[in-house]
Amino acid sequence: MGAVNKLRCPKCGYEPASKTIFQCPDCHSILEVRVEISHFTRADFDRMRESRDHSIWRWFDFFPVANRSSIVSLGEGNTPLIHAARLCEKIGIQNLYLKNDTVLPTGSLKDRSNSVGLSVAKELGFTTATVMSTGNAAASVAAYSAAAGIKSVVMVPAGTAPSKIIQARAYGATVVVIDGNFDYEVAKLYTAAVEEFGWYDCLSSNPYRDEGKKSYAYEMADQLDGRVPDWVIHPTAGGTGIYAMWKGYQEFLSLGWIERVPKLVAAQSEAAAPIVAAFKKGLADIEPIVARATVAESIQVGNPVSLGWRALAALRESGGTAAAVSDGEILEAQALIGRLAGIFAEPAAAVSVAVAKKLRDSGVIVADEVVVCNLTGHGLKQPDALNLAEEELVPIAPTLKALREQLAR
Ligand SMILES: Cc1ncc(COP(=O)(O)O)c(C=O)c1O
Ligand SMILES: [Zn+2]
Repeated sequence: MGAVNKLRCPKCGYEPASKTIFQCPDCHSILEVRVEISHFTRADFDRMRESRDHSIWRWFDFFPVANRSSIVSLGEGNTPLIHAARLCEKIGIQNLYLKNDTVLPTGSLKDRSNSVGLSVAKELGFTTATVMSTGNAAASVAAYSAAAGIKSVVMVPAGTAPSKIIQARAYGATVVVIDGNFDYEVAKLYTAAVEEFGWYDCLSSNPYRDEGKKSYAYEMADQLDGRVPDWVIHPTAGGTGIYAMWKGYQEFLSLGWIERVPKLVAAQSEAAAPIVAAFKKGLADIEPIVARATVAESIQVGNPVSLGWRALAALRESGGTAAAVSDGEILEAQALIGRLAGIFAEPAAAVSVAVAKKLRDSGVIVADEVVVCNLTGHGLKQPDALNLAEEELVPIAPTLKALREQLAR
């Protein structure tokens, strides 16, 4: 049984009496979940590693779910950690690993969050879950709600690609397209709707759901046999991944299951880089920006209001950094990952590899360090990022002669 302590405000220590208050009424911080883990021993680590359950739920005791019967799982987690030899050679990092989350059930890292989030929703008795999203979270919340038997309402900004809306619809969600800017107008309506209708909030403003990405830290410790990478690079939008990996690594460190934590790196698109800007200026919190359009659509977030400050603290405490890359660098990285590693990642996911290359080129990362790049979403999420030339689609005659001509072109 995951022994859940109370929710607690990380800034002022406020502890609500109810499990459904997510925000501190005094300082407005998102509350934090604490799970009781201090009694675990090395034998528990071995037991969890040996579990036949290969989803994130082999780490059940670290998640804020009281009973296993509440678990809502589609088999998420334990994604491959691939030593990409040809990519290593190209980028000049001998020990570059790709954490391939493109293979998660709905094709993105959001499944780590929503498996935990919807399990708690079931436990707390909610009947409708909601999220506002540029695509990946909508699909994931819709899928896990379907599995939980909970209704889902997802809000997307006007202009969201139909391919993304279709996936959420396929899982039975009610999709609401809203005319307005994502970070401001859509966010305002979303907050008002959660309050008005009492829906279960699946954004990073939900402390339970934020626990899910701790599984990155647990899985890496398992997959590298207790070794810790020198660097972990994460495509960053809301800051949940950086915050949760930090927390997961800290938990293992406090138990003596690992000896140190990796340097964490927030990787962003230059068009939407509020965390990079705040990190470089030495700020304790984010200055919200209006994000510009970028090929990395899934991480086009200008106001990571809930966990931005937590992510900044995690970057600094880990001795890590933050870096932004251009759309050109992102598309180049996407092509390299496909052609040299055999993984089709969406542009937002390729941002981690683009940043790895940038930090290697500038000498921040040294050739023999162990570097993990999280590949957080599948390329089929956004197929139009790859422009096919029209002539590539022109059919040839079904003859060897025509084939030879085509191959010679
Ligand atoms: C593909 C992809 N990568 C990365 C992220 C990063 O989110 P976070 O910074 O909250 O971990 C998101 C979600 O916003 C995403 O959809
Ligand atoms: Zn507070």
